[in-house]
Amino acid sequence: MRREIKTAVFPVGGMGTRFLPATKAIPKEMLPVVDKPLIQYAVEEAKAAGVENFVFVTGRYKSALEDHFDHAFELERGLEERQKHHQLDLAHSTLLKPGQAAFTRQQMALGLGHAVLCARHLVGDEPFAVILPDDMILDDVLCLVQMVRAYSEVGGNMVAVAEVPGEHTDRYGILDGDPRAGALIPVRGLVEKPRPEEAPSRLALIGRYILQPQVFEHLARQEPGAGGEIQLTDAMAKLIGRQPFHGFRFSGRRFDCGDKAGYLEANIAYALECEAMREPVRAFLKRYR
Ligand code: UTP
Repeated sequence: MRREIKTAVFPVGGMGTRFLPATKAIPKEMLPVVDKPLIQYAVEEAKAAGVENFVFVTGRYKSALEDHFDHAFELERGLEERQKHHQLDLAHSTLLKPGQAAFTRQQMALGLGHAVLCARHLVGDEPFAVILPDDMILDDVLCLVQMVRAYSEVGGNMVAVAEVPGEHTDRYGILDGDPRAGALIPVRGLVEKPRPEEAPSRLALIGRYILQPQVFEHLARQEPGAGGEIQLTDAMAKLIGRQPFHGFRFSGRRFDCGDKAGYLEANIAYALECEAMREPVRAFLKRYR
């Protein structure tokens, strides 16, 4: 029987330099899109996909992340006294069940692969999901939910992919596979940040992964790769041919919230999804044509 995905890892140990000075004292993953921080969208997506264990790989100055999923007693007492029931529900909506959340620290930001490796003992010998909160995907069926459905058919390892402009391949992990294959693309190879002229395709890895625990063995042996970082892409590439490995072309609109323009666009798109904000946002957008 294929083991279900019950654990998700959230690598949130990066420095978020592209958002300085906003990210000097608060983590990038606490930046809000409309009224929820990026990390909360990621956790809600994992919950919708059936995840029950949430592993956060954090770093120094990231304690706001931990606080966000805990009680805020003073605030809650104040809201209770003022009978602000709706706001109290919102404050409670971030709580995870006792024991569901685990936080570990990546002491040095040595790359995404290293961050995932830090979660090894908390994940154990189980398949698991990885969600990068700064990649947001807007769709009626959340991206990890789509992936878990596909995984229940094919198992193995799976990476979310989307086509990017040819000149942007050097910003992403790029998949070598047949782009005409449909939603599930058998993976022939993976390359981290190839130059456009060397990229095997324009299919870029977007921040959703389903991985088998054997990836940890390769991560533990991994030497630094592109940019001097321990790359998840390089460790995943070692699994190709040994285990099923698919790219998954998800449906939905993706926003790169690690980038200022992408983050702003996500705010607009998510606000337009929200009934109370749609009209005022449409009205002010007209002024910027
Ligand atoms: P990014 O490549 O966006 O890096 O990481 P960053 O440090 O967050 O941001 P910039 O580029 O300096 O602005 C993608 C994801 O991987 C995590 C980040 O927290 C983010 O969720 N990450 C990255 C780690 O957890 N540890 C690392 O060492 C690097």
